Amino acid sequence: MSKYKIGLFGFGCVGKGLYETLTTNNDLDAEISKICVKNKDKDRSPIASEKFIFSADEILNDDSINIVVELIDDAEAAFEIVTKSLKKGKAVVTANKKMVAEHLPELIALQKEYNTPLLYEGAVCGSIPIIRNLNDYYASEQITEVKGIFNGSSNYILTKLFQEGQSYDEALKEAQENGFAETDPTLDVGGFDPKFKLSIVIQHAFGISVSPEKIFNWGIQNISDEDIRFAKERNLKIKLVAKATAVNGQLSLLVAPHYIDSDNPLYHVENEFNCVLINGKYAHEQTLIGKGAGSLPTGLAVLADVASLTKEYTYNYAESRNLTVQEDLSEVYLRFDDPENVDLSVFENVSEKFVGQKHGYVIGKISLQNLKGILEKAKEGANVIFTSGKSAEIELSKLTYFYA
Ligand code: HSE
Repeated sequence: MSKYKIGLFGFGCVGKGLYETLTTNNDLDAEISKICVKNKDKDRSPIASEKFIFSADEILNDDSINIVVELIDDAEAAFEIVTKSLKKGKAVVTANKKMVAEHLPELIALQKEYNTPLLYEGAVCGSIPIIRNLNDYYASEQITEVKGIFNGSSNYILTKLFQEGQSYDEALKEAQENGFAETDPTLDVGGFDPKFKLSIVIQHAFGISVSPEKIFNWGIQNISDEDIRFAKERNLKIKLVAKATAVNGQLSLLVAPHYIDSDNPLYHVENEFNCVLINGKYAHEQTLIGKGAGSLPTGLAVLADVASLTKEYTYNYAESRNLTVQEDLSEVYLRFDDPENVDLSVFENVSEKFVGQKHGYVIGKISLQNLKGILEKAKEGANVIFTSGKSAEIELSKLTYFYA
């Protein structure tokens, strides 16, 4: 009989990953005692059908269950389960990034009020132990930037587009079949999922809460053959980057595709792998790479949280740094189908402009506000890819090329 009894909500990709990692790991004094699922008719063999229940209360009202693991899809239902569990004094592990990102201040307050821990390593970058490291190791660092590839599905699709010349739809289908994508894959390819993760990372890296709706996100769904050709002709790749940069008391935040050159560690991160680059005053740049999606890698992150709870681990939630969220001017490549739809006068420092018969593009600096206006108006007829203008990434304006 184990000391720690787990009530598990959800038995999808990550739930099965947790089950497998837990049942093949002999070191942990924990066992799954009940699994709450929605569908009564699914065959769950070889797991005994008695383990499966269909009412949340059977876990919430069971005093023998001391750890709740929440791995369902629906963020609002997940929030209800998590809050009820914390209020009942049950320690909780979740991998629901949307739910955590949208409710983090309330979740922090509940943990304090009920003196009950909530851990969510599996919510951010799959198997990469980023939250744990930010909470413990980097608590002594003054972080200036956290950025990277925070979404496995988008990175998988971009890899297939660049390396294998697969179509976008084929690559997305494969990402879904492999269990990487969300049930609604717009969350992945639209840059929402990495935005939720970035919002959680900001809390642990900088001690401030930024609601995800305040972060600009643009995904990979409008990437065209021209954008890919543009990159390939210059030995660049396109990666969906999430980043939070603190400079002089100001924090700029962004989720968007970026052109990346081969000197950048992100260039070499392929398929469902994620990468987190942490820059700080003392240690400077450090890189963490690992599988960002998939049943067993994410199951392991959840298992690691369960193991931590058995050792009474909790997050510290660092003191808030004095930072104001602001929007910078950014250098971007903006591709458009119809120049009539795009007001190019809002660009500053234009370094290149091309207008062809079927498409055109401009490279220059623009505010996020103006960029949002252009993208909203052009709809599917435009795409934006950022360049950082910093030494670690490419400055497109310095490139010379000839367009036939
Ligand atoms: N859909 C997510 C991804 C799963 O592709 O990264 C892991 O959070």
